[in-house]
Amino acid sequence: MCIRPSEAEGRASFETRGATRRPAPTVIAREALASRAMRVGVVGGGLMGSGIAEVCARCGVDVTLVELDPDRVERANAAIERSLDRAVRSGKLDAEERTAAAERIAYASELEAVEGADVAIEAIIESEDAKRELFRELDAILPEAEFLASNTSSVPIMKLGAETRHPQRVLGLHFFNPVPVLPLVEVVRSIMTSEDTLRRAHDFAENTLGKTTIDSQDRAGFVVNALLIPYLLSAIRMYESGFASKEDIDDGMVKGCAHPMGPLALADLIGLDTLLAVSASLYEEFRDPASVAPPLLNRMVEAGLLGRKSGRGFYEYAK
Ligand code: CAA
Repeated sequence: MCIRPSEAEGRASFETRGATRRPAPTVIAREALASRAMRVGVVGGGLMGSGIAEVCARCGVDVTLVELDPDRVERANAAIERSLDRAVRSGKLDAEERTAAAERIAYASELEAVEGADVAIEAIIESEDAKRELFRELDAILPEAEFLASNTSSVPIMKLGAETRHPQRVLGLHFFNPVPVLPLVEVVRSIMTSEDTLRRAHDFAENTLGKTTIDSQDRAGFVVNALLIPYLLSAIRMYESGFASKEDIDDGMVKGCAHPMGPLALADLIGLDTLLAVSASLYEEFRDPASVAPPLLNRMVEAGLLGRKSGRGFYEYAK
């Protein structure tokens, strides 16, 4: 979501309604973007990886999107095409910009395709082993990269940095779903992340992608999920116990608290497997009972009811 002047004006007037006022994201001149000639390797073509790739491409960055499962490369491509079409329909992109953004993304199913990238962003499944192995490989393939970032919601950044020979250039860049819509990126430093890496990552997220950043220490959940996940788990417990129907729980939070969506619908949007992984990491770190997954969440994940991405979670979705 590169902010154009007309959008920036809209955003500024929206932001002045909030209690805390943040400056509107920087407006980047198209010429300045063109002269950057930056290349980003995004690894993982799921919901988050394809969203991150799309946002980069819309901001003039060349992207190599690696989806290691060849069957899913086509799916990532289709998801990005759909999202770009949606942006054209709602007037956020014109046809020319849409074509240019789509052409900036190269798809690959081999990690070596990211070679030469200035920056890498990992967005594969929330598996600590898989991510550790990937960071080992990225470190070897990209010895000159400015930084290697993870979009993880649950794996400590230090564990990923420790797999590399350059832990000072490893950090977390945590985007929010839907990535083209939500302005926030959490910038997460491990105890080994250097100031230079942080500065470059802030510059990239704010000035290249037009996102708003907040900083977090390398603690489970970072800032947002440490607050959000216990709330979502409470909603599942409330539903599981028969306290209220799922529709009433969601309506309560939408109509009573002006949330854009209720907690059970949001759990479906995030993905119940991701929610489970984040709750496990929160519990492992803080031992707070509020982060224990309710049995219903476990059973749903075991059944493959993962939310929107599988077509069924608390609600059903057209595939
Ligand atoms: N991709 C791209 N654009 C999308 C989109 C998607 N998947 N979904 C919606 N949009 C766009 C639409 O095009 C529309 O744009 P315009 O206003 O310019 O037309 C806008 O978003 C609103 O969409 P809709 O009118 O279709 O629907 P809505 O008003 O109900 O909004 C929503 C949908 C954006 C998902 C909104 O309900 C929302 O923001 N929900 C909260 C999402 C949230 O909390 N996300 C954070 C999850 S936590 C996380 O991601 C981190 C983690 O580690 C777990």
